[in-house]
Amino acid sequence: MKTLLGIETSCDETAAAIVTEDGRILANVVLSQQEHAAFGGVVPEIAARAHLNHIDALIKEALAGAKLTLDDIDAVAATAGPGLIGGVMVGAMTAKAIAAVRGIPVIAVNHLEGHALTVRLVEDVAFPYLLLLVSGGHCQLLIVEEVGRYHCLGTTRDDAAGECFDKTAKLLGLGYPGGPAVEKMARACKDPAAALEKYPLPAPMVGKPGCDFSFSGLKTAVRQTVDALPAGAIAPDAAAAICHSFQHAVGLIMADRTERAIKQYLALKPPSPALVVAGGVAANTALRQALEALAKQYNMRFVAPPPKLCTDNAAMIAWAGMERLVRGMTDTLDFAVRPRWPLEELKPHPLKGTSHG
Ligand code: KG4
Ligand code: ZN
Repeated sequence: MKTLLGIETSCDETAAAIVTEDGRILANVVLSQQEHAAFGGVVPEIAARAHLNHIDALIKEALAGAKLTLDDIDAVAATAGPGLIGGVMVGAMTAKAIAAVRGIPVIAVNHLEGHALTVRLVEDVAFPYLLLLVSGGHCQLLIVEEVGRYHCLGTTRDDAAGECFDKTAKLLGLGYPGGPAVEKMARACKDPAAALEKYPLPAPMVGKPGCDFSFSGLKTAVRQTVDALPAGAIAPDAAAAICHSFQHAVGLIMADRTERAIKQYLALKPPSPALVVAGGVAANTALRQALEALAKQYNMRFVAPPPKLCTDNAAMIAWAGMERLVRGMTDTLDFAVRPRWPLEELKPHPLKGTSHG
């Protein structure tokens, strides 16, 4: 039974986790950096410095929480990209140092692969599955064919879905990160039907061929709606109604794009069809409900990891590392870090000793 330490430092969460081969999470500690609050967004240099300051203590905390020492760790995995490169380097160098000193394998994990495989840490989901990956930096529909093998059906032409949530929250003065704040506000909307009439917002790409996304038009429309409000502080009722209308538009976009992807996926006749949602925005309850209804309509299983494993964490990196370790897909100590690293550029290693081999 293998035990693996995972490290995540690609944005503003410093995280360490320990998982076992049979999918137990022995520790999962996440430190959301507060150093950026005054700047209204993540400052890359500050993030890298903060990762450096916190990572050692976080790894110690994870080991202590799991009641283990480094002697019990069989391999170490770290995010090697995509992300803010200073932070990624901190995590990668830490993992390399541990691997070198302990003489254990190291695994360079693609952060998006971490999100994509998380579901298999908590549920028994077989390949191939259809994945909607929605985070602060990405918005994609993918067929997850195998570890390391991804087929992209559609992606965003401009912003990511999470960015659009964050921007909406900023315009309404709801703070950062915006997703949870917008969701909470939308839930407080007293008259949802009236909100859609009073603050109608566009749902770009709906009805268009293909599975691509676009959010810039929606973002602009939210700004224009907010600009048209009476001068002075935004009334909570108005903010709640706009959040509802915004979330409704996002729901329409996601459902339309995902339905098209479902048709392409089902044409491949997968043995156990499943729709999976992952990434920070997958924590959104309204989105989960819309996707669940869609999956039901097509007789597909719908699976979403618990919200805590949807937003950035190291358990997802540790698990992607484990999926690779058990397939013999380890890396060398000179692996490179990459600020940009699309999932489709992952080179599947030759499969060793698995039923897929
Ligand atoms: O996956 P993640 O933690 O980081 C990236 O890899 O980007 O995603 C962060 C994004 C942020 O934009 C945040 O606002 C959004 O996920 N988010 C949500 C919710 N919780 C987090 N968006 C909508 N509803 C939520 N409940
Ligand atoms: Zn992420």
